[in-house]
Formats: sequence, structure tokens, C-alpha cells
Amino acid sequence: MTWLRKHLLGLQELSREEIEMVLASADSFKEVLARAIKKVPALRGKTVVNLFYEPSTRTRVSFEVAAKRLSADVINIAVETSSVKKGESLIDTGRNIQALRADIIVLRHNSSGAALLLSRNVDISVVNAGDGWHEHPTQALLDIFTLKEKLGRIEGLKVTIVGDIAHSRVARSNIWGLTKLGAKVTVCAPQMLIPAKIEELGVRVSYDIDEALKAADAVNVLRMQFERDEGNAFPRQVEYFKNYGITQERLEKLKNNILVMHPGPLNRGIEISAEVADGENSVILEQVTNGIAVRMAVLFLVAQAKEKNETTH
Ligand code: CP
Repeated sequence: MTWLRKHLLGLQELSREEIEMVLASADSFKEVLARAIKKVPALRGKTVVNLFYEPSTRTRVSFEVAAKRLSADVINIAVETSSVKKGESLIDTGRNIQALRADIIVLRHNSSGAALLLSRNVDISVVNAGDGWHEHPTQALLDIFTLKEKLGRIEGLKVTIVGDIAHSRVARSNIWGLTKLGAKVTVCAPQMLIPAKIEELGVRVSYDIDEALKAADAVNVLRMQFERDEGNAFPRQVEYFKNYGITQERLEKLKNNILVMHPGPLNRGIEISAEVADGENSVILEQVTNGIAVRMAVLFLVAQAKEKNETTH
């Protein structure tokens, strides 16, 4: 199979084979990262621009490290100090970055659909680094990569995603990716944080965290996104931690040795206890490390597709 996409906008549009191709390619790049010289010339002469309209630590740095490991030149644009502050639109910003001869724009934006919009208005590659509540494809790919690395497979795995499902692009991308690869996904949260008709995406809904964890091989704990609580509808932090927080006490009641994941940033004492976050079930920092290999794979594949001029977009 050949990778034909010059953009990566979401996992909804990817086939199982395409997801597996990214994972296989990330495996090879992980091997590169274990070498004494952690660098390959795959993107030499290419320029990657990180265009971030929202704060980020992991994703922005991870894309920068990934691009540098591929020998690309990297430019980071923080919108706070760019002409976006003078009213320049996303499309004009993208077209100017293209005119400056960049090859790939990595976009984080607060609006769902921003990456798709940009991809339709520039000729260069666009990689979605998180758009509103919609998708965060590279986060889900690195989550799936970590699950596969730790548990040996995805097919048939039971994965519980707990937390603010309603506002979570990480949840949506994980659901698309995991179900395509044959995992059984349960989402768990208070009712107000579960979107209507989420079952139509092929997941099971539970409102009881202990029940949702009981048979799970892994739990992906989501951050409570208090900044998105427009109607002041979220449960109080103390109440949430008591009813849904992932604590050592909860894990000790389980028969399975459950894998604990979190995309970060963590709210310790709200959705996860410090003891669990730093404990032996946690693979949270390994997820961060795996993000480099996964993002190397994505940058490499989209650049290759663009070069071959065999795109589907
Ligand atoms: N997981 C994640 O997207 O983290 P950042 O917001 O720090 O990029």
C-alpha cells in the first residue's frame, strides 16, 4: 500500500490500513531515535512551520523535535507575536507561510474544522495538531502506538476513556482510531460530559467508573477542560475526583494490571491522583516520548505524498 495523503486532518478519514502504515513507520523511526545519532536526512531541505493558535507544550515541542530529527528546518509561530494579532485571517496567514516556501504547516487551532479549511486554501501539506473539539489525530496515533507497544495488539483490547468526552478532540480521535483497529471502547463520565448519540461511533457508555475499569486493559484519562465550561455545567472538582478520579485505591480493586494513559497536561488531584500518575501502571511519559516517532512518521508520509503528487485531497 502507498500513502497518498498530503494532509493529515483526522483519523475519521483514515482506513485501518493507513493507520497501520503510520504505526509501522513510527516503529522504524523509534529505532532511529535509539541510535547514537538520532537523525536521518529524510526531510532535508524541507521547512516545517508550527502554527499554534492555542497553548501547547507536548505537541509543539514534539513536532519540532520530530522535524529536526528528520533534518527539516523548523519555524515556530506563536500567534500572540504574529500578524494574527493585527487581524490577519487563518487563510491569509497560511498563504503567506506558503509564499515563504514552507512545505508543511502543523496547525493547532481553537476552531473545529480549521485544519480542513486551511488545507483547502493552500497547496502545501497541513497536519492537524488539534482543532477545537474535533480531532487531535497525532495524539491518538501516539496513544495507539503506546498501547500496541505495551500490550502487543489493539484488536480485541478493552480501552476505557474517562473524563470530559464532550469537549475532547483526543477522545474523538482515539475512538475513530481504536474502533477501526478492532478495540472495544468504553467512554465513562458524568452524563453532562457525554455527547448525545456517542454510541453511534461504536462505543459503549458507562456512568460508573468502577464498572468501566473492571475489565479494561487500559484507561485513557482525559483532562477536565475547565476553560471550555461555558455554561458552568461541570461538576465541582472535589466531587469529580471522588466519583471519577483515577486513584490507587480504585486500581487496587481491579484484577487486571491496567495500563494508565493520559494525553497531558495533567490536573493532579482532579482526574488522576499524583500516586497513579507517577505509579507503575502509568505510561504517561512514554506516550510523550512515542509522540516523536509518531510525528516523524506523519511528517515523512505527508511530505512523501506531496512529492509524489499522488494526493487524494
Ligand atoms: N496532549 C497535548 O495535546 O498536550 P499539549 O496541549 O501540551 O500539546
